[in-house]
Amino acid sequence: MDFAAFSRRARDLATSLLREEQITVVGHYDADGLASTAILVKALQRSGVDVDFLNTRQIDSDHINELNSLQNPIVFVDMGSGQIDLLESEIKQRFFIVDHHPPQRNSKNQINPFHYGIDGTRELSATGTAYFVAKAMDQGNQDLSPVGIVGAVGDMQDLHGGLKGANRTIIKDGEDLKLIHAHKNLTLFGRHSRPLPKMLEYCSEPMLPGLTGNYMACVAFIEQLGIELKDPVGGEVRYYVDLSLEERQRLTTALYMLLLDHNAPELVTGMLIGEVYEFPKEKPRTELRDAKEFATVLNACGRHEEGEIGVNICMGDRGSSWSKAKRLLEKHRRELREGLEWVKTNGIKEMEHIYYFDASGVIRDTLVGVIAGMAYGSMVAKSEKPIIGLSLADDGSMKISARGNYDLVRSGLRLGEALRDVCGRLGGEGGGHDVAAGARIDPSKKKEFLRLMDIAVSRQLNR
Ligand code: C5P
Ligand code: C5P
Repeated sequence: MDFAAFSRRARDLATSLLREEQITVVGHYDADGLASTAILVKALQRSGVDVDFLNTRQIDSDHINELNSLQNPIVFVDMGSGQIDLLESEIKQRFFIVDHHPPQRNSKNQINPFHYGIDGTRELSATGTAYFVAKAMDQGNQDLSPVGIVGAVGDMQDLHGGLKGANRTIIKDGEDLKLIHAHKNLTLFGRHSRPLPKMLEYCSEPMLPGLTGNYMACVAFIEQLGIELKDPVGGEVRYYVDLSLEERQRLTTALYMLLLDHNAPELVTGMLIGEVYEFPKEKPRTELRDAKEFATVLNACGRHEEGEIGVNICMGDRGSSWSKAKRLLEKHRRELREGLEWVKTNGIKEMEHIYYFDASGVIRDTLVGVIAGMAYGSMVAKSEKPIIGLSLADDGSMKISARGNYDLVRSGLRLGEALRDVCGRLGGEGGGHDVAAGARIDPSKKKEFLRLMDIAVSRQLNR
């Protein structure tokens, strides 16, 4: 890894951006996209650039006219590196790219960790990349380090034990400013924001056999461990963060044993404990106190067409944007629960080298990828094949989301390349990371797509 060369590129790009009077930031709509948008917008504003932003699903040929109607130079964040040829041939105005997707090739106004031996899928997100550009604009922007971590966690870069590589520098910056507290803990959602039984009831990563989805069973499970549900003195409902160290250990051991009793593979038991990132300046008992839950708040905004709310929260709004986000979060969680339930009951279809499910008309296209990923964690799909979720988009196209795991990547899986190649041949567009990728095709091509994808994966895995 050549971090010095990466930092030089960050400085050069920062200088170029600060030369502009007006800029439009065009970011992806997921947690990493919104967080990276916010970092750039905030840093540019602080430096006196007149900046606006928008967040979108993907840049493909359909969106070019829309982008060309923008007046300002554009900075693409969390997108662009996979579409450089398209952008260079079609975009009229000056543009820059701050991205971490496997790049088609290098280009002048682009920063991408992959060009410096930093693995953009695992070691630095688009938000992290944007953070280093912001830091190069002004060291004072280090107060944006918590947001930098939210993007990485949103892209699951913490999946195996914690954040790695260049992400560690961001954590260090945040720790120095006492804005980030990184430590090992139970990784379950809701440690800060849900009463104990609710934390277990809603847990889908991993799925807790007999507990997930069953409130009364969760209450009994906690009571059997001798853990009080309410504070014996004040009577307040207890959250995980209210437990004593000994109670936490008792709960964690019991959950671990539960998974082992159900023969959960290591991939699943390993999800239970890991490094977590707490933001001590955020209000206790809110989602924003924890990086993972913060990322879910952003996904709830972006994936329900309210990206602006998420960006505003990243930029510090704890008033009206936060109130609106809480409502979106409820909707998001409900749709995820219902979607996963639907996948479980309607079954995943198995081909020789892939799993797939077709949730057209049931799961919205912006959530099908998240649900495909959750299907792994919940043991609905086993881990030896990647999973592909299909859904219908509003424009009538078929949205494809593919998710794998790092064992498969070590065996040769490259989902982004496979989708780019197969969907390209079918007249669609696709791309993304080795472990998580997406695409669009005409729905009439579904059968052919599945056949070709099965072959492409079998070739990559040498099976
Ligand atoms: O566009 P971007 O790179 O930000 O998105 C990657 C997507 O892939 C995210 O939605 C992230 O949660 C997902 N992902 C995943 N499993 C991984 C890595 C990423 O589902 N191991
Ligand atoms: O849409 P989904 O969450 O499944 O996307 C997974 C990953 O694939 C993201 O990193 C996204 O940016 C990428 N992708 C892409 N080209 C597409 C669709 C998705 O590069 N046409």
